[in-house]
Amino acid sequence: MLPNKLNDMQDKLEQIKKEFIESIHRMTNRAGLEELVTKYVGRKGILTQAMRQVKEIAHEERPRIGKLANDIREEVERMVKTARQKFGDTAEAVVFDATVPGERKNLGHVHPLTIIQYQLEDIFRQMGFMVLDGPEVESEYYNFTALNIPADHPARDTQDTFWLRDGNLLRTHTSPVQVRALQKHGAPFRGIVPGRVFRYEATDASHEHTFHQMEGLMVDRDISIGNLVAVMKALLQNIFNTTVDVRLRPGFFPFVEPGFELDIKCLICHGTGCPVCKRTGWVELIPCGLVHPAVLRAGNVDPEIFSGFAFGLGLSRLVMMKYGIDDIRLLMSGDLRFINQF
Ligand code: PHE
Repeated sequence: MLPNKLNDMQDKLEQIKKEFIESIHRMTNRAGLEELVTKYVGRKGILTQAMRQVKEIAHEERPRIGKLANDIREEVERMVKTARQKFGDTAEAVVFDATVPGERKNLGHVHPLTIIQYQLEDIFRQMGFMVLDGPEVESEYYNFTALNIPADHPARDTQDTFWLRDGNLLRTHTSPVQVRALQKHGAPFRGIVPGRVFRYEATDASHEHTFHQMEGLMVDRDISIGNLVAVMKALLQNIFNTTVDVRLRPGFFPFVEPGFELDIKCLICHGTGCPVCKRTGWVELIPCGLVHPAVLRAGNVDPEIFSGFAFGLGLSRLVMMKYGIDDIRLLMSGDLRFINQF
C-alpha cells in the first residue's frame, strides 16, 4: 500500500472522529442520538466501513492504523454510552423543547349571573354590607311565618313552591335570610344575600322555576325611605354605568311597611314595549320597603329602637337588562352558544 493512501486513511479516521464529536455535542434527544449511532457505527456506518478498509492497508502499517481505528471506535462507544445515560433509557424519552409553541388550553369563565353578582358584592362591600348565604332548603317558618306571612295568608299562594316530604320547602325568595341574619348578628346590621330561589311556576320568557335574587337588608337607628332610595340609585348607577329611569310604585309584601315596587325603564326596548317588559316599557326590578316591625321582632331586634329597609333584587332580571337578554330561560339552559358570549 502506498504511503499517501496510508496518510489518507489516518486523515479519514481523524476526520470521522472530529465530525462525530461535533455531531454528538449537538444532539438534543435520544432519537437523534440513535440515528447518529447508526450513521457511524451501524452495519453500513461511516466508521464501520472505514475500519473494513483498514484491512487493505499494507501489512506493516496495519497495527498502527488498526489501533487508531479501534481507539476511535472505543471513544465513540464511550461517548454514546454517556449520551444515552443523559437522554434516559428509552428511545422515546420525552424531550423538552422550549421553542415549541404551547398548547392552548380551553379555559372556562364565570357565568353572566356570577359576573353581576360579584360586581354587586363589590358595590355593597364598599358601602359596609356583609355578604351572606342562606339555605336553599328552608323551613316554612323562615320562608313565610317569620316574615309575617301566617299559614292562612293569601301571600303564600303567590309564592307556590316545591315542598319536601319532611315539611321543608325550596325557598321562594332570599328574604328568609333577613330573619336568620338579625338573629345571628343583631342590630345595627348591613348585609346582602345573593342566591338561588325556586317557584312552582309555568315558564315563559320572563319566568323560570329556578332563578336568582339578591336580598339586601339595612337595620340601624333612624333608617328611612331616603336611605333606601339612595342605596338603590348607587346600585343601579354602578351596574348600568348610566343613569337609569326608575319609578316607585306602592307594592304589597307582608314583611315590609310601607312596601314598594321599584321599576326601571326597560333597557331592551327603551320603553316602547317588548316581551321582557310585558309590553309596558317598565321592568319590575327591585321590590323593597321598610322592614315590618314583626320581622324585626322575629329577629330579636327592638322595633322601638331600630328601623330598616329591605329589598329583593331580581338578579336574573338585572342580568337580562344589563346584557340585553330577552329570555330568562337562556340563563340556566347550559347552552354554550349562549354562555360563550360573555
Ligand atoms: N322577597 C320578595 C319576593 O321575592 C321581594 C322583597 C324583598 C320585597 C324584600 C320587599 C323586601 O317577591
